[in-house]
Parts: sequence; structure tokens; C-alpha cells
Amino acid sequence: MIIYRAKNYQDMSRKAANIISAQIIMKPNCVLGLATGSSPVGTYKQLIEWYKKGDLDFSKVTSVNLDEYKGLSPENDQSYRYFMNHNLFDHVNIDKTHTFVPNGLEKDSKKACDSYNEIIRKQGGIDLQLLGLGHNGHIGFNEPGAAFEKETHCVDLTESTIEANKRFFASEEDVPRQAYTMGIKNIMQAKKILVVVSGEDKAAILKEVLYGAITPEVPASILQLHNDVTIVADEAALSNS
Ligand code: F6R
Repeated sequence: MIIYRAKNYQDMSRKAANIISAQIIMKPNCVLGLATGSSPVGTYKQLIEWYKKGDLDFSKVTSVNLDEYKGLSPENDQSYRYFMNHNLFDHVNIDKTHTFVPNGLEKDSKKACDSYNEIIRKQGGIDLQLLGLGHNGHIGFNEPGAAFEKETHCVDLTESTIEANKRFFASEEDVPRQAYTMGIKNIMQAKKILVVVSGEDKAAILKEVLYGAITPEVPASILQLHNDVTIVADEAALSNS
């Protein structure tokens, strides 16, 4: 595991974008596993900037996202598809038909998850998986207690997640109760993993992830067993480590 200490969020984003750029340059038709949330936004901004300068070409890149709310359409501004279009895909020359997010509108969970696993397999697996880290150690929507051997599956959102997300919706009833997420197994099968972590509020969990016991109670702790993980964290996030 390589740990890069960044000065702040901006520096973290630049360093992470450098690693993703290197991947795209080395393998123009690579498969990128992508994440939503606040951690990777700066990384996407930096990638867009380099694309606009002419330094990056996404035309042959394929992407597979970690997760999506069940029941939300791509047009819903809280869907992860919307997030990805808005924060990255609309601004670079990626072929949108080569960008995959679990289908939130598929009501049949088994069908949605099986077909997503099939999509990942068809691409030949993930070359580089980008991850953010939840305050409880979650990766994707794999919450504490999640089985390490799962592939894409449907999860019930915890009360605390529903509570935290309700500010984005008109009312609490509008907050999705379930999501489709890649499982830990899909994530661990990626050839390389890049984790971006920022802020003092992540310092305690990051220390556990890096140096604590490997346990389903801290889902990201499994990353200790992957042979090619790069952590890019800012000083605040590394302040306990
Ligand atoms: C996002 C995802 C989540 C986030 C995590 C951190 O697709 O699956 O696991 O990466 O919740 O979120 P932020 O970056 O907002 O702190």
C-alpha cells in the first residue's frame, strides 16, 4: 500500500488526478471504476481541466460506477448518474454509451445486480477503481457488517444514511430506501485501487482502515489485503495516523 500525504483537498485532488491520468495515458482503453460523493469532485475537476488543455483523451475509456439509488431516474438530480454526468462525463470526450451506473429504475434487484456484474465482466474487469471512504468505513454502499464475498447487490439504507440524505430531497419520504452497490468482491478484483480521503472528520476511521484489524465491521479494512492500493489523503485525514 502506498500512502501519499497531500497538503489539503486541492493537493489531494491533483495527486489523485495525476494517477488517473497516468492510467489513461498508459492504457487509453482502460476501465475506470468511479465514485460519487464530495471526495472525488476535485479530482474530476482537475481531470476536466487537463482534458480541456488537450492533455487527456477519454474517447476510448470505459467507466463503471460503484453504486446508484434504487428508484431514482438518471434525470433525478440526486441520482448518481446525474452526478457523474454533471461532474465529469458532460465535460470530457468520454462516449456516454461506455459509461455504466447500476440501473436505478430496474425494480427487479436480482436482474439489476446480475446484469451489472455481467457488464463489469464483459469489460474484462476494472483497471483502476477510485474510492471515497465513509465515516463508518464504508466503501460504495457496503456498510459495516457487509460480507466481503458479495458482488453487486441491493442494500437497505441505514436510518442514519436516510437521515443524512434527507436534506437533499423535498421530504423524508422521497429519500430512497435502497441502493444497488458493487460488492467488496467486485472492488477487490480491480487491478489497482485509489482511495481519496480528506478532512479531520475522517482521521479516526482512516487510521482504523490502514492499521486496524481486517473486519467486516470496517469494510475498507479489507483493502489491506489488496496488492495495489494507493491512498491519497490530506494532512487532516492523516492527522491520527
Ligand atoms: C460514492 C460512494 C460512497 C462515498 C463515501 C464517502 O459513490 O459509494 O462510499 O465514497 O460515502 O463520501 P464523501 O466523499 O462524500 O465523504
